[in-house]
Amino acid sequence: MYKQVNLSDKIYYVGVNDRRTALFENMWPLDRGVSYNSYVIDDEKVAIIDTVEAGHFEKWIAKVRAILKGRKVDYLVVNHMEPDHSGAIRILTELYPDMEIVGNKKTLPMIEGYYGINSNFKEVKEGDSIDLGSNKLTFYTVPMVHWPESMVCMEESNNILFSSDAFGSFGTLDGGIFDDELDFEHYVDEMRRYYSNIVGKYGNPVQKALKKLGGLDIKMIAPSHGPIYRENIARMIDMYDQWSRYEGEEGVVVAYASMYGNTEEMAEVAARAVAEYGIKNVRVYDVSKTHISHIISDVFKYKGIILGSPTYSNELHPNMEAFVMKLQHLGVVNRYFGVLGSFTWAGASVKKLNAVGENLNWEAIAEAVEEKHALKEGKYDACWQLGKAMAEKLIAER
Ligand code: FEO
Repeated sequence: MYKQVNLSDKIYYVGVNDRRTALFENMWPLDRGVSYNSYVIDDEKVAIIDTVEAGHFEKWIAKVRAILKGRKVDYLVVNHMEPDHSGAIRILTELYPDMEIVGNKKTLPMIEGYYGINSNFKEVKEGDSIDLGSNKLTFYTVPMVHWPESMVCMEESNNILFSSDAFGSFGTLDGGIFDDELDFEHYVDEMRRYYSNIVGKYGNPVQKALKKLGGLDIKMIAPSHGPIYRENIARMIDMYDQWSRYEGEEGVVVAYASMYGNTEEMAEVAARAVAEYGIKNVRVYDVSKTHISHIISDVFKYKGIILGSPTYSNELHPNMEAFVMKLQHLGVVNRYFGVLGSFTWAGASVKKLNAVGENLNWEAIAEAVEEKHALKEGKYDACWQLGKAMAEKLIAER
């Protein structure tokens, strides 16, 4: 009793949806859930490409067994060792003790380290292939997309790229599994939130991977999370190229922390000026309200960023501190930058936010605005001028 999902006559989707887990990596809110994608190739030889998070083993193996109808598994391809994909390795080796585990030289020690398995390994190197019958898998390493051992494989007879975390997305597969069966636009924000927060630090490795894979004739991209692409392949590659070059679109993220509304008011004034001078894409966020993963996603999208924080015990507001720390970890570059801040007895936030911009080589578009106590006329005008300067900077690029 299982209606199989075919990528081709011998290749099947056997992934699962997770709508129960609240936080991916115990950090990132799964507002719309996540899918753990896995694939079976049922040819003369049987291969499984990646497993699923351990808690979903039962529903996953039921699909695998329904397809294999008693056949044994010859190969488990481990494209990536993060446990959302490798979590069922140990139990799978108990079910299929003769199965070979396929990985590269960095994968195999991780399998031993995580799961205590040190036999039946089949090491593959860059460009190696495994013949399964009419299907053939060829392997390419893509280090740091998302871990050092990350690799992808291309099924040569159908031109299907099993891309692991690359081109993955948050969001469950709600009926539609292929991109031409669903509303692609519904997933774009979750694709970018996944990319920016999970892989976003590794822009250069992603660029190298795109160049390496650029020569392949890809007809389908089958990632480890989110939709399978057969209609929007060029668009997906373009988006990854843009995000991994940290190329921002016209628009401004105004992210602030505020205890009693004074820094918030400064942010509102600047945002209003940005819009009045012609920028339509303005996203204003209170970092104490919106999870930083959503704000980071928009920072990857837009070229302008204005940060505001009160001084809190001679530091940044703690929620702004967490946000800017993550931005610095991610190394987002090539942004226009403005700073706002308020204090009651001694100012520190503006200086600290300016340092963030300097660390990331962002271009300051105006003097930072710092107000003591509530916003008053002089600094109101300065906030307005800061917003205007941001808009003019962006418009000059049109
Ligand atoms: Fe979906 Fe890096 O694991």
